[in-house]
Amino acid sequence: MEEAALSVQNLRAYYVTGHFGMQREVRAVDDVSLSVRKNEIYGIAGESSCGKSTFIKTVAAAIRPPLRVLGGSIKYSFLDRDLYDLDERKLADIRWNHLSFIPQGSMNVLNPVRRIRESFQDFAFPHMGLGRSEFFDVVNRHLERLQLSPSILSAFPHELSGGMRQRVAIALATVCRPEFIIADEPTTALDVVVQKDVLALILETQREIGSSMIFVTHDLTVHANISNRLGIMYAGRLIEEGPTREIFHDPLHPYSRHLVASLPRIGDLTPKIALTGAPPNLAQPPSGCRFHPRCPLATDLCRQASPELTTLSSGRRVACYAVASAPATRPMTNDRMTNDKFKSF
Ligand SMILES: Nc1ncnc2c1ncn2[C@@H]1O[C@H](COP(=O)(O)OP(=O)(O)O)[C@@H](O)[C@H]1O
Ligand code: SF4
Ligand SMILES: [Mg+2]
Repeated sequence: MEEAALSVQNLRAYYVTGHFGMQREVRAVDDVSLSVRKNEIYGIAGESSCGKSTFIKTVAAAIRPPLRVLGGSIKYSFLDRDLYDLDERKLADIRWNHLSFIPQGSMNVLNPVRRIRESFQDFAFPHMGLGRSEFFDVVNRHLERLQLSPSILSAFPHELSGGMRQRVAIALATVCRPEFIIADEPTTALDVVVQKDVLALILETQREIGSSMIFVTHDLTVHANISNRLGIMYAGRLIEEGPTREIFHDPLHPYSRHLVASLPRIGDLTPKIALTGAPPNLAQPPSGCRFHPRCPLATDLCRQASPELTTLSSGRRVACYAVASAPATRPMTNDRMTNDKFKSF
């Protein structure tokens, strides 16, 4: 089997704070295991506060207190050891060069008081091993490939539109041709037309440099356009994973079924029924399956024990007793899950 570009095993990352001698832990990422294949775009979906950004910070080694990695391993194919066995100097060596980041807001990477040229100089120049003029030749060519005029190098970030700044952030994240790119809601702040262009640019650049990528967004329609495989998170856990097309066609976990059923479809005028309740407080997650307080299929077993993420014969993974108990040769289909309880979703 081909070596994974990224392999994450049993990752636990909690926000740990203390007030009046009482320790509080927000279990934002709790026992997550997944692998990203070479050259693929692995999408992570799930509603707000389910732990997507915390997972991203952890695999990008961007941990600041009170966030702490309490267990698990993170291995990239370009590293000979675990990410958290690297010292600060080695981490600085791999950032931008091998592992880069496209944030939601470009201002998280662009310094507002420095011209774009200086941001390229700060982040990319130390990795390229080139003289200054050769370096800017490479940058200019890269900008042109991304349909950006090299003249933007003289601009301050506030002189550019939001869409243009996000293109600059993509250019910055890809100029060193990194093996792995991590993107956290990179198009969420943009309006729909600009979003479409920026997505196309990300896809084109990822293909051109052959990087692997984790792409996080709560917006499933964006995943439909960009992610090869999809991992769905709920309350700090990965609850379903599979090829994006298959999840859209036949979501297995009750939560995924709700997400997919909520997508607007042209011509479909049936009212969408909201999922009752809210995602749990991750400082005190529910016992058993974390989705059980909202799940119409919950049983006593679901309230007491936590379902493992189980690999089905189709290769898809799902953490749900109702699905895992279905015959392995025939994963649960839409029809089988459309029982009376499910209709109340
Ligand atoms: N600095 C922080 N301190 C304490 N809890 C935090 C902090 N940042 C995020 N959280 C909590 O961690 C959980 C996961 O948040 P996050 O990873 O940002 O989710 P998402 O990106 O899916 O919206 C949430 O319950 C959130 O309130
Ligand atoms: S394990 Fe039980 S509560 Fe959890 S999603 Fe499946 S049926 Fe619902
Ligand atoms: Mg987030």
